Amino acid sequence: MTKQEEIKQLKQEKDAVLLAHYYVSPEVQEVADYIGDSFFLSKKATELSNRTLVFCGVSFMGESAKLLNPEKTVLLPDAAADCPMAHMVSKETVEAARAKYPDLAVVCYINSTAEIKSWSDVSVTSANAVDIVRNLPNKHILFIPDRNLARHVAEQVPEKEIHINEGYCPIHETMKGEEILALKKEHPDAEVLVHPECNAKVLELADYIGSTSGIIAYAGKSEKKEFIIGTEEGVSFALKQKRPDASFYFPKTTPVCVDMKKITLDNIIHVLNTGENAVAADENTAEPAKKTLTKMLELAGK
Ligand code: 13P
Ligand code: SF4
Repeated sequence: MTKQEEIKQLKQEKDAVLLAHYYVSPEVQEVADYIGDSFFLSKKATELSNRTLVFCGVSFMGESAKLLNPEKTVLLPDAAADCPMAHMVSKETVEAARAKYPDLAVVCYINSTAEIKSWSDVSVTSANAVDIVRNLPNKHILFIPDRNLARHVAEQVPEKEIHINEGYCPIHETMKGEEILALKKEHPDAEVLVHPECNAKVLELADYIGSTSGIIAYAGKSEKKEFIIGTEEGVSFALKQKRPDASFYFPKTTPVCVDMKKITLDNIIHVLNTGENAVAADENTAEPAKKTLTKMLELAGK
């Protein structure tokens, strides 16, 4: 039996479904039942009737699925696959901002731990951050943990005062504007599509800024045949499927999220067989963290 066949059989036996982010390796995306960006995956997790969800991504994604579906078993193929940015804000930062601005809304990017979500008022993803922040009644917003997405939102919603926390994604932060410029020189007809986690120099060069699914959808509709992509290289699997006629260029120092790449067919098989790495909700944070996620789903649906 191939590994793919083994996964298929185990999914049936365990009433399990595989959800995968666009950054995991192509062989994992190939066996997944659903592939998407963070928003799609968190929403999809609430719509499934299966008893077990195998979350092929980093731990905050599995944790969010568990918070939204406490009755389900959520398995992480590799419990060490973690997003460093998800930890990059302290409680003191949140408390200090709340003390200073009585009307403050604390908006946390979904790339955050359940504990951080429990201190916050609403979660957002890169697909809905601008709209959700724009529609909040509050003037003062503390946006955590990502400074780059926070700056992007602040530019799009100038009527709000957005207070920025200095967290970042190491992969997107270190992408160099010079490398994008070099690609633009080589491919002058190419459109530049980037993720809002990129640093300001890269965002300045973009024709389109959006979530992973936004980038894929944009390339799907564009009349151009060449694209410079400013996000993790895993998206090339979906991009090539969507636009087999087009060419995609990534920065020379290819952006790779080592944590996303920890998910393999072998560790998917292992957790399906053993039930290991089941996400456990922390009783102190689960309820308030779930509230911030549920608020996002409500506001994003409006
Ligand atoms: P998306 O929600 O755009 O898929 O982004 C998730 C992520 O981790 C980006 O680094
Ligand atoms: Fe986290 Fe960056 Fe990896 Fe996304 S690409 S999961 S933000 S480390």
